[in-house]
Amino acid sequence: MASNQCLWLALLVLGVSASGVASRTIISKVPMSVRHELWMAQFGRVYKDATEKELRFKIFKDNVEYIESVNNEGNRKYKLGINHFTDLTKEEFKATHTGFRPSKTAPKKATGVFRYENVTAVPATLDWRTKGAVTPIKDQGQCGCCWAFSAVAATEGITKISKGKLISLSEQELVDCDTEEDEGCNGGLMDDAFEFIIQNRGLTTESNYPYKAADGTCNSKKESSHVATISGYEDVPANSESSLLKAVVNQPISVAIDASGPDFQHYSSGVFTGECDTELDHGVTAIGYGKTSDGTKYWLVKNSWGTSWGENGYIRMERDVDAAEGLCGIAMQASYPTA
Ligand SMILES: *[C@@H]1O[C@H](CO)[C@@H](O)[C@H](O)[C@H]1NC(C)=O
Repeated sequence: MASNQCLWLALLVLGVSASGVASRTIISKVPMSVRHELWMAQFGRVYKDATEKELRFKIFKDNVEYIESVNNEGNRKYKLGINHFTDLTKEEFKATHTGFRPSKTAPKKATGVFRYENVTAVPATLDWRTKGAVTPIKDQGQCGCCWAFSAVAATEGITKISKGKLISLSEQELVDCDTEEDEGCNGGLMDDAFEFIIQNRGLTTESNYPYKAADGTCNSKKESSHVATISGYEDVPANSESSLLKAVVNQPISVAIDASGPDFQHYSSGVFTGECDTELDHGVTAIGYGKTSDGTKYWLVKNSWGTSWGENGYIRMERDVDAAEGLCGIAMQASYPTA
């Protein structure tokens, strides 16, 4: 096995430098078991025993076959790809890597005011990264606290816009300390996180209260060291991509989406056009928008699944679709903190 694997590795290396078609041909001739081994090495995956490995191999194989079948159809505006999620079933994936979930009690209502309702100056494209209002891609790991990453990214954005400083803020503080409505790795809601940040009079930095990808006890000393505060939060009127646009023009916006579909798990590049539903299960951040050369409009969305997923951690999702809810429900529950 070992020497065989070296050979295949050499072929793969060769394949990378060859043309795309040649490289695909070579890779598709590599036995799936070897591809799984190479993948395990690439992503540092270790299984506890042979049974686990066999199980993971089957899932990996099914996923790779699915990815290749979708890509070979060649009629979609996006490509799927092998990433660090390729050995997870979609059920496992959803259970461990999303985490948007309505709170136990009725969600606290935002003010009802939408301060951007009369915005008319809307540039054709916008990317908050180029304005320095977006921190590097983070990775929630196997903890369903997307809601914390989404709320933090929106808070980082408004802090940069209002105070002129981009500061990476602590998701772990929300996971550990914001436990009245939200449930750490078991899920939460961005509006509840904003509510907590207001009550707590701010959030501390990522470096002061680093991310652990697990629930923990609130460190009240760190919790009380604030570097960024917000004064309130507002909801974008639901089911209106034009309202969402007015908001995104002004700051990065927390949005909830349905990210449970297999194409979302395996998304690699291009403008994602579905399949997805509108059962909101994931919190992300809309940080811009644009239009491709073929005229497809998209939202530029920051995810929290590391940089191996999607376009270096980002996804472009089709914008201005027929459904009022937006693609994957992106216009259903958008909200933002105010300075
Ligand atoms: C938008 O314009 C209308 C009409 O002038 C005004 O009544 C409303 O208060 C404005 N909304 C905001 C948020 O400024």
